[in-house]
Amino acid sequence: MSGSFNDNVTEEIKSRCNIVDVIGQVVPLKRMGSNYKGVCPFHNEKTPSFVVSETKQIFTCFGCGATGDVFEFVRKYYNLDFPGTVEKLAKEYGVEYVSNYQKDSRKELYYQINREAATFFFKAFCQTKNPGLTYMLKRGIDPTTLKKFGIGYADGEWDSLYKYFMAKEIDVKILKELGLVSESKGKYYDKFRNRVMFPIINTRGKVIGFGGRAIDDAMPKYLNSPESPVFMKKNNLYGLNLSRQDISKENCAILVEGYMDVISLYQSGIRNVGASLGTALTENQAKMLRRYTKNIVLSYDADSAGQAAALRGIDILFKEGCKPKVLHVTDGKDPDEFVKKHGKDAFKKLVNQALGFVDYKISVLRKKYNLNSYEESIEFLEEAAIVLRQLSPIEADIHIKKLANEIKISENAIRLEINGNNTQEEQINHNYLDNREEKPTLDINSSILPVEKNLIKLIITDYKYYKLIIKNENAFKSNYGKKLFSVISSFYKEESELDIMKLQDSLEPDEMMVLSDIIDNVQLADKEEQILQESLNKIEVEDLTEKENSLLMRLSMADEEENQEIIKVLTEELMNLQRKKMERGK
Ligand code: CTP
Ligand code: MN
Repeated sequence: MSGSFNDNVTEEIKSRCNIVDVIGQVVPLKRMGSNYKGVCPFHNEKTPSFVVSETKQIFTCFGCGATGDVFEFVRKYYNLDFPGTVEKLAKEYGVEYVSNYQKDSRKELYYQINREAATFFFKAFCQTKNPGLTYMLKRGIDPTTLKKFGIGYADGEWDSLYKYFMAKEIDVKILKELGLVSESKGKYYDKFRNRVMFPIINTRGKVIGFGGRAIDDAMPKYLNSPESPVFMKKNNLYGLNLSRQDISKENCAILVEGYMDVISLYQSGIRNVGASLGTALTENQAKMLRRYTKNIVLSYDADSAGQAAALRGIDILFKEGCKPKVLHVTDGKDPDEFVKKHGKDAFKKLVNQALGFVDYKISVLRKKYNLNSYEESIEFLEEAAIVLRQLSPIEADIHIKKLANEIKISENAIRLEINGNNTQEEQINHNYLDNREEKPTLDINSSILPVEKNLIKLIITDYKYYKLIIKNENAFKSNYGKKLFSVISSFYKEESELDIMKLQDSLEPDEMMVLSDIIDNVQLADKEEQILQESLNKIEVEDLTEKENSLLMRLSMADEEENQEIIKVLTEELMNLQRKKMERGK
């Protein structure tokens, strides 16, 4: 019934436990024929009308109507919610699993330890003279900016941080998992030593990891936290915690390669920046940026690695519906060096001159071929046509004109190349249509029901729908549905205006993806009232189906007991219910 994540666990529990034993622990049961009987724990009675079936693994009470499987019994008897029920039975029957609740509290602990480590490094950086501070001042970063980014220093001792956490009795296993401490031959030591520490902070303000830059010529130059339960590189961008408002305001994000590029640009007054943490831009990072703006300027190193990263980044961003551009740093190897040398306005000029992604791709091609050669010009055009095929006809037109002019060939020939020659279709993995139709990710669709998506969309559209939907407390059944609803509720309890950005900030990355999918893809098309009615109706039908199943269960038990009186009552109830369901179903 609830989301897929529990299904394996519940199946496993069911296969290990016998409902007769579970109920027998708290209700004295007597064998009567093929079933067991006892006094119902859910209402007052003297003659037992509470029946437990071993073969069906269900219970029912002919007195009060309580019915269900072992989960329903435990839930009702011990007054638990569903996750609590699963947790209790899992523990008793030795089924190993980590509940969402446990996961969340474990994560909180990890965040807290990371935060303490950041504070530890920060104090070492601020309190006395140290190589870290000296180095950063020498690189031209002023104290205000250093503080803003929470820059710290890991000293050269081997165990400062380790000792600090041991005094607090923190589990060394967690320190290792977070990559703060390493182990060698049974001895523990600090992973980050004599490094400038850059805490990586997500948009919810949690410290999720660190980058540490060597001060001397230690290798590697940058040492990063490993992936951990709280740090997934592919889901985060460095600096976004500080810059996302500016990105929204400017309706543009500048993406750079490194920590220092972000910090330098930010200090110079260019604040709509972020870094993809030294790796290639990922789909999730693109999705994340897309929440704030579709105008993304890639400002990577001008070397061949930077160019390759830009080409890949463009495709990923384009797929997510962004309009990527590429900036070319003309003097200095990266934005950090450029902005220090030439200042903010000069960098802004570069941003304004950034090439649109089509022009950029074509410019890369142009360098590959000698356009004085007739043959190579043809090859160049053939490759350019592949790029243009991704565009809408209108967008393509401008570029066709430019190319025709450059190569001195007719526009029509280029158009034919673009439209006619479909054999190369496979070489491109998307076209302009894909850019518009967001492809739903499998994950998302299987983890939240379509009707729930409608309801969430309605709720975030208007407070009045929230007020209507909270009346149906069981409306949300999936884990994502429940989680989103509860987070949105907590905001609506504060005020009736919903700040989507704040809402997104308080979600985990996977939850955010589900929400973004709803925001982007669920269309209400002015039919809010109708969709609301249909959705609520659907939920009612589902509830009725659940009731129907439980009635059928009781009927089968009554059959076994050959209890004619009950059979008659239940049959009537069932018919009523089925009539109601038919009406709703229309
Ligand atoms: N990086 C990394 N691990 C490395 C090297 C680089 O994670 N071993 C990432 C860091 O995020 C770094 C970025 O890649 O900020 C850019 O690296 P590099 O081009 O080497 O940076 P530099 O500009 O040379 O670094 P700095 O300005 O600190 O000298
Ligand atoms: Mn640099």
